[in-house]
Amino acid sequence: MVSPSKRLGVIPPYLFAEIARIRDEAEAQGVDVIDLGIGDPDLPTPEPVIEALKTAVLNPETHRYDETPRGWKPFLQAAASWYEREFGVTVDPETQVGQVIGTKEGLAHLAWAFADPGDVVITPNPGYTVYKVNSLMAGAEVYETPLHEKNGYLPVLADIPTEIARRAKLFYVCYPHNPTGAVATPEFYQEAVEFCRQHDILLVNDMAYSTVTFDGFRNPTALQVPGAQDHVVEFHSLSKMYNMTGWRLGFSIGNPVAVQTLQRLKSNLDSKAFPAISEAGAYALNHLDNAATLAIYQRRRDHLVDGLNSIGWKVPKPQATFYVWARVPRSDMTSSEFAAELLKRTGVVVIPGNGYGSEGEGYVRMSLTLQGDRNGERFAEVVQRIQASGLLSQVEMTV
Ligand SMILES: Cc1ncc(COP(=O)(O)O)c(C=O)c1O
Repeated sequence: MVSPSKRLGVIPPYLFAEIARIRDEAEAQGVDVIDLGIGDPDLPTPEPVIEALKTAVLNPETHRYDETPRGWKPFLQAAASWYEREFGVTVDPETQVGQVIGTKEGLAHLAWAFADPGDVVITPNPGYTVYKVNSLMAGAEVYETPLHEKNGYLPVLADIPTEIARRAKLFYVCYPHNPTGAVATPEFYQEAVEFCRQHDILLVNDMAYSTVTFDGFRNPTALQVPGAQDHVVEFHSLSKMYNMTGWRLGFSIGNPVAVQTLQRLKSNLDSKAFPAISEAGAYALNHLDNAATLAIYQRRRDHLVDGLNSIGWKVPKPQATFYVWARVPRSDMTSSEFAAELLKRTGVVVIPGNGYGSEGEGYVRMSLTLQGDRNGERFAEVVQRIQASGLLSQVEMTV
């Protein structure tokens, strides 16, 4: 068999393999595993979106290639209107919005569209691994900005060496942030846009979780900064907003050159989404919000975080995303060791933080998307199991 390309060698080993192995073993032995690992909405796509798809699929016009340059027109218009309603920023749907087959695809291909060998791409650590892996595969050098709890998991721009900034083409940020649940501030975006203006860098703001927020909080956006449209492209997703991860719908929005350059690459790679799906996505953006889903996540979050705090594991409450990011409560264990021990003793699966980068060591991530939970009762059970396990009996930590 011929060997795979050398560029595939940059893909890191699957860090969750050991956890997956223990989980499968436990399940095979009949353990009632509670898997807080994967972040995939457990609730179904809202019924009206499914109805919109049914109607669209009966229209033969949707059975053909979408031959538009940037995506299905009603979808792009719906995205621009949604963005204006949500964030108060007007963009031109004709030039500043581009459809992607999920933001993962768009974020990955943006690196391929812009980064060459010799260029630098700045990525967050910890962070969604897609930015880094694709930048490396494209031959670029990656500079990781460490995100620390003491800075609210925002990159410290003054710490980025000038020589790196000078060679950087893309600067990926993600707020609300996977895996930490951190949110951004308008001041941070202002500084980041100014930094990118000074050094001629494209700021890439991954907002896949922009509407997964709690207690009435709304994450600001980089495009709200005056003049940002010259330096920023954002990515928004229908996946987490409307429980539509399998539908593969998202969009880029902001700088027209960035939007068009990405589409130029994509027109040589894919032939866009099934138009009936785009049509249903437009319906969702025009007509629906996600309040009911958020209420459930919020109840689960409160059961889990309040519960863990009450048994001595000091865990902050996220304002956004469906992730709880917690310090490993044992100084004698790494993230992976703790996750493995937790699974063995309680049947609860969490993800070791180092899976998202070296700076995630010392933390674990727990997802609030749990199949089979209705009202937070399984999260209350997680707390009971952890308390009964004795794992916290040697707690030395204070966060
Ligand atoms: C931070 C972040 N960005 C983007 C994505 C990709 O989402 P999608 O491709 O479904 O839009 C994910 C998925 O988990 C994510 O966590």
